[in-house]
Amino acid sequence: MTELKITIPSAKQASYTITIGTEILASVWLQIDEQFPNQSKFIITDENLVNAGHPKKLTGDREITTFVIKPAGEISKNIKTVISIIEEMEKCALGRDTLIVALGGGTVGDIAGFAASIFKRGIPVLQIPTTTVAQADSAIGGKTGVDSTLSKNAFGAFWHPVGVYIDVGTLKTLDERQYRAGLIESVKHALIANGEYFDFLEKNLDAILSRDTDVLETMAIHNCKIKGSVVELDPLEKNQRRMLNYGHTIGHAVEQASGFELLHGESIAIGIIGAGLIEIETGLGTNDRLKRIQTIFEKIDVPTEIPENLEEKKLVKLIKHDKKAVQHWPRFVLIDKIGHIHQKNGQYALEVEREIVEKVINKLKKR
Ligand code: GLY
Repeated sequence: MTELKITIPSAKQASYTITIGTEILASVWLQIDEQFPNQSKFIITDENLVNAGHPKKLTGDREITTFVIKPAGEISKNIKTVISIIEEMEKCALGRDTLIVALGGGTVGDIAGFAASIFKRGIPVLQIPTTTVAQADSAIGGKTGVDSTLSKNAFGAFWHPVGVYIDVGTLKTLDERQYRAGLIESVKHALIANGEYFDFLEKNLDAILSRDTDVLETMAIHNCKIKGSVVELDPLEKNQRRMLNYGHTIGHAVEQASGFELLHGESIAIGIIGAGLIEIETGLGTNDRLKRIQTIFEKIDVPTEIPENLEEKKLVKLIKHDKKAVQHWPRFVLIDKIGHIHQKNGQYALEVEREIVEKVINKLKKR
């Protein structure tokens, strides 16, 4: 028997810049051209963005090949869309010297990032997020993927962007329900990592809801600092990064059980209340703390209870399939105070007794 050892040189340390501003979209292309002078560019966006005029604003008079995802939204987040994108790139004779520019919300960013990760074994992607959820969360950190017919992000890759441009001015055209739901990821960041940021969100909620761009820029800075520092510690989600899944164990299950009628942020709001109830049951939380969180969610106007029409059995089955599950029983991310994640023996996703989880699901339905 012969054994040959192949040593792969470790990838060079990657870093990228997140640029945050208001009404910067029209000047971003000059910077992209300066940073990537030798790359062909291929834009991926969706029909909502086209209707809002954002691709035109980004490219000006330049002729840039653009793939428009239709219809916009989770329904198109599947492997068929990725195949169409890749084949369109081939028809345009694009090669490995191409830069994909993802302009849009979480769905566009996830699809475009995944297409970039597999096109001719991987090409760079630049993210220009335009929704509250994408600017706070999904455009940063390199998670990309599409859904299978069975579960969310079943096809996926970690594929970090080569740059992120956040123009909070693009949030002005976002539909009200999407805008509000996406704010939950900002509340989540505050809850897991920065109590002063939570105070800021409480104090400035009226300005946030009226889309005051100064306040939105401050939020974007907080969100990117929190998310960026977690991703730097644990880019591949072996442990610490799980803290970003606060509220997601119950939240993802609720989202899926609702057949995606509930938006991601709306489902995560319910999941965060669920985590708060578990914290009370396990002595990590108080009613007063949960009330504070519930009040901010009520002002944002997202649900805080599991809708009556969701089948409990289906929900429990989906919770058991959560990616943090070990031996078919889920793990939960919990906080011990606002702005501080709870850890046990260095672990960030913890086992919770079955009776407590069942009691909490019951309370989440019946309060
Ligand atoms: N949205 C959670 C993460 O990026 O890890």
